[in-house]
Amino acid sequence: MSMDVIAILESHLTGEALRVVVTHGRAVAGLALAAARGLALPEAELGFIAEAAMLHDIGVCRVELAGLGLHAGQPYIMHGILGREILEGEGLPRHALVCERHIGVGLTLDDIVKQGLPLPLRDMTPQCLSEEIICFADLFFSKDPARLEQMKPVEQVRVKLAAFGADKVRIFDAWMARFGAALGSG
Ligand SMILES: [Fe+2]
Repeated sequence: MSMDVIAILESHLTGEALRVVVTHGRAVAGLALAAARGLALPEAELGFIAEAAMLHDIGVCRVELAGLGLHAGQPYIMHGILGREILEGEGLPRHALVCERHIGVGLTLDDIVKQGLPLPLRDMTPQCLSEEIICFADLFFSKDPARLEQMKPVEQVRVKLAAFGADKVRIFDAWMARFGAALGSG
């Protein structure tokens, strides 16, 4: 990795939260890279995916997540946009968009309005292959400290997404068709 992503994470997180975000980031990066290699993406793009997967949850440092000892007060759903702010501040605008666009299979403007989410009114869905791959990989890993490296079964991911609508499951199924081969090799 050309950039020191661990140093960036260490400048915003400490203790158990840092350990969880680093371990979770490595799990997501591993699966995302397996998917990206299967698609024969260029080496530079693999580097970006590895870095952005490690950094995608950096925004949790500004939320309330008692289980990880985080008491920064903001609602958890905001960790995407907060991560974007942090990485833009670090001079990483492209990595920043991965933070904003990784919630579920991506939040549409309609999702934000209808669910009354405390988020700015704009589309927050993945817009390029790398953003899609990281969003896909993240769905398979929890930030539960006891299960960080345990990949969730596909059916469990589908059931969780189904609670947010059939359109979410359709997006996931389409990603499975494109990236799912990585699950066996990751
Ligand atoms: Fe994540």
